[in-house]
Amino acid sequence: MKLKSSVWHPNTQMREWESFTEIVKAKGMWLIDSDGNHLLDGVASMWCNVWGHSKPELVNAIKNQSKKIQHSSMFNLTNQPAEKLASNLIKISPGMHKVFYSDNGSSAMEIALKMALQYWKNNGEKKKTKIMTLENGYHGDTFGTMAVGYVPEFFSKFKKQLFPTIQIPVPKKYRIPKEMSYKEYQNFCISKIEKEFSKDDKIAMFVMESGAQVAGGVNIFHKGFQMEISKLCKKHGVLLVLDEIATGFGRLGSMLQYTEQKSIPDIVAYGKMLTGGYLTMAATLASKKVYDSFLGEFNEWKHLFHGHTFTGNPLAAVVANENLKLYQKYNLIKKIHNTSKIFEEYYEKLTELDLVGDVRHKGMLMGIELVKNKKSKIPIHPKKSINKIFFEEGKKHGIYLRTLGNIVMIVPPLAISEKELDMLLNRTVDTIKSAQNQVL
Ligand SMILES: Cc1ncc(COP(=O)(O)O)c(C=O)c1O
Repeated sequence: MKLKSSVWHPNTQMREWESFTEIVKAKGMWLIDSDGNHLLDGVASMWCNVWGHSKPELVNAIKNQSKKIQHSSMFNLTNQPAEKLASNLIKISPGMHKVFYSDNGSSAMEIALKMALQYWKNNGEKKKTKIMTLENGYHGDTFGTMAVGYVPEFFSKFKKQLFPTIQIPVPKKYRIPKEMSYKEYQNFCISKIEKEFSKDDKIAMFVMESGAQVAGGVNIFHKGFQMEISKLCKKHGVLLVLDEIATGFGRLGSMLQYTEQKSIPDIVAYGKMLTGGYLTMAATLASKKVYDSFLGEFNEWKHLFHGHTFTGNPLAAVVANENLKLYQKYNLIKKIHNTSKIFEEYYEKLTELDLVGDVRHKGMLMGIELVKNKKSKIPIHPKKSINKIFFEEGKKHGIYLRTLGNIVMIVPPLAISEKELDMLLNRTVDTIKSAQNQVL
């Protein structure tokens, strides 16, 4: 039975959705609805679940902490779980010195932008106010993050209110200009950054997702791309701000993408998988250089004017600490390397399908791009939302899917077993086949 919802749902044409499937509980990789249907969680409950649902260690951590203190503020006070988490995060984050908490990824990126802008003000460099970023990026739905991660389809209605940024083209392997190779196009993008840096000394920061653009359709960066940008930032004295919210903590196969990509940032943001996907928390980490610029006498007003009610919430922090402990205990990153190979077994089966133009995969992330015609690469564009069609067809096959435009996103909980991932991918193939007539 579907539920008539009083909730205004996110990114949803509410007229299209009269009622919603109600999830009443979940265990492991499976969501269970009010009719008792089991749905394999193909998107890790919006890309954040690590261990599956109802993991006893994580549930118990929350339970035990809730008997001590449920929330206490970071304003004038601190708490042990938040302190412990900060030192845990610093330990795993080379080059980072302090942790600033928030409760969602968009806020963590807003904080990153404010830190980077104020860094220059605090250092007396008033002209450094411009923000450079990559086209097709996504950093959240708040005004600052919409300006930086500008997705025209989502945000054009607010364009007038958004501050300007310098947008650099980004190489997309599947859609490279005809006259260039992928490598040549990548070099072209890098040289554009260098040109802008050389002619404009007002650029304060370069902001990008680390390792891949996820909401931008699973655009995985070629090795060396991010490192080249990081080198240019260092050479030209521009702060590098990385967004690891969707890509860090194992999603792309390594704990942190910035270490894999050899690109130590000045500021980095984590979210999503930080608490294993159990409670809402995000973190913005800053290097010592950035942090030190905020120190001074009170009346110099160098401190960071930012703070949220639930900043450093001890319940969220305690479950994040337990989550990090489990990464070690179960050697999750190594496990991901093995599980990830299951995706490779499906490349051929997927690309053989009429609707599938391209398959992109790294670690525990796969994007399947659906096109009308493989040659013309024109994206499918049905009247009804592709997402709704795939959600409903996926449900018939016992999987929970949420597509992004014409991209079927496969983003399972990181600890999914090989058998369950195989089942998820097999059912995804069947879902694409059965959705074909509706989307063309
Ligand atoms: C790379 C990236 N940054 C930031 C965000 C925003 O996070 P939140 O939805 O928690 O605000 C997202 C969300 O998908 C994301 O993918």
